Amino acid sequence: MVSSKVAVSLISLALTAVDAIPLAARLIGGDCTDFHLQGQWLVANCLPSQNTTTRIQSTIYLPNKITNHEGTLEWKQKGGYSQTCADCRIVDGPGLNCQCRPTGGPRKNTTLTLDEHIKNYSGHLLTDLDGTPTPPPISSSIDIPSDLTWSTFQGDNQCYSTNADSCKNFSPSPGSCPKQATAISSDGIPVQCQAFRIPVSIPVWETFGSLRVDASSQAYEVEIYDNLDCTGSPIKTIGPDKYGTCEKMPRQGYAFSVMPLWNADY
Ligand SMILES: *[C@@H]1O[C@H](CO)[C@@H](O)[C@H](O)[C@H]1NC(C)=O
Ligand SMILES: *[C@@H]1O[C@H](CO)[C@@H](O)[C@H](O)[C@H]1NC(C)=O
Ligand SMILES: *[C@@H]1O[C@H](CO)[C@@H](O)[C@H](O)[C@H]1NC(C)=O
Repeated sequence: MVSSKVAVSLISLALTAVDAIPLAARLIGGDCTDFHLQGQWLVANCLPSQNTTTRIQSTIYLPNKITNHEGTLEWKQKGGYSQTCADCRIVDGPGLNCQCRPTGGPRKNTTLTLDEHIKNYSGHLLTDLDGTPTPPPISSSIDIPSDLTWSTFQGDNQCYSTNADSCKNFSPSPGSCPKQATAISSDGIPVQCQAFRIPVSIPVWETFGSLRVDASSQAYEVEIYDNLDCTGSPIKTIGPDKYGTCEKMPRQGYAFSVMPLWNADY
């Protein structure tokens, strides 16, 4: 605890001393360009080492790292700040500046200093909220897409429940993927593990025998599991080459994850 505080104040001192160096370069004391927000993702292109000229694009999904605590931005896993904050932008510091709503009263103007918990690891910007991160062994060559939308369509459903009575009147959808998306994100929300609950408030799940994935970018991979925690090996993986087709599962799927194929810390 003490040593991390010392480190933070040393960084602040260093930042004051090098005011002439542009914001992007100052982040984590290295050579990064195009430092910006895309939707709720922080994006930067950094040099992995002094001898290289090819930059690595790395991104961080900020709602999973930052929260709005009574109108003040703070670091927190799965913090979800963006639900109650508006007009967010990157400011000198480097900081994330937003107008955030407290429980009562008007929005507050708040800025979080990003390099407190975002650092360069071999050219990848990563957060250290979970301890020192390990940079990915292989960097992705895929960039974060301009259209972040993905959607999934689960079909051939069966009712599953820990309560045997709740599935009595369930009529499964026959033989194909539905026309309406069953899950959709326009912000490119990464999904660690999601099951379908019907209704949302009680623990009754819908399993699925087929799944279609749509995305206008070639930038996601969806993994399907036969358990609610997404553990073990996926029973099916749907990548960009399978988008738009109703893929049959080898057995009923219970849950899925949606993973960005670009360099992403989420
Ligand atoms: C990132 O860290 C590597 C060492 O891990 C270093 O060689 C490189 O210069 C740093 N780049 C930036 C942008 O700070
Ligand atoms: C970087 O380049 C210098 C000079 O070209 C060389 O001496 C050094 O070994 C290189 N370092 C690495 C890590 O490749
Ligand atoms: C928020 O505060 C910063 C720093 O004091 C200031 O530069 C900025 O204009 C403020 N933004 C709003 C919307 O009030």
